[in-house]
Amino acid sequence: MLKVLDHPLITHKLAIMRDKDTSTKDFRQNLDEIAGLMAYEISRDFPTKKIEVETPMGPCTTKALSKDIVLVPILRAGLGMVSGILDLVPTAKVAHIGLYRDEETLEPHEYFAKYPKNMEDAVVMIVDPMLATGGSANAAITMVKKQGARNIRLVCLVGVPEGVRAVEDMHPDVDIYLAALDDKLNEVGYIVPGLGDAGDRIFGTK
Ligand code: PRP
Ligand code: URA
Repeated sequence: MLKVLDHPLITHKLAIMRDKDTSTKDFRQNLDEIAGLMAYEISRDFPTKKIEVETPMGPCTTKALSKDIVLVPILRAGLGMVSGILDLVPTAKVAHIGLYRDEETLEPHEYFAKYPKNMEDAVVMIVDPMLATGGSANAAITMVKKQGARNIRLVCLVGVPEGVRAVEDMHPDVDIYLAALDDKLNEVGYIVPGLGDAGDRIFGTK
């Protein structure tokens, strides 16, 4: 399933991020805010369990989250989405997957992986601003599946149809959430119109 979260606040903030003159500080801040807004939408169907609490007025039957939530940022750029989601889900655990795209072949290369326990039973949210060819997302999904993860959501800011199709073909069980579905990839694998190199813009490395 693909869901494009075209909420006015998300689109407004994404427009700021797309602007080539936006500073590193504002790029980072808007990414953080969009990640939180996306998490709010995506968490609507998080599993809950019935609990009893004692309010100052007496007993209350209510609900609490029933599963661990695990965020999995794909390094580097996915790191820019973590704190905005942790603001909303402060009990979430954070795995890390390090992948970089070879600039010539566009193939992803793994350089780091660290997971919490109990991936089997958790709601796993893989986060990365860009879904271009889909190679990095597919590799990350394969990696978390090897850890036993079954309930997996892929959360990206900007994607293109090629990348969405690649993930749907390889992992049809994974729900994909985007803030925007852009037109296409250019000849060197960048999203057009996109927002440029997300990692470089977040960390000020270009
Ligand atoms: C970018 C982006 C994704 C990947 C998307 O990362 O953050 O991880 O490219 O491209 P794909 O869908 O074609 O795989 P990059 O490899 O540039 O690494 P970085 O985050 O360290 O800059
Ligand atoms: N990675 C990025 O950071 N930007 C793109 O447009 C494509 C891949």
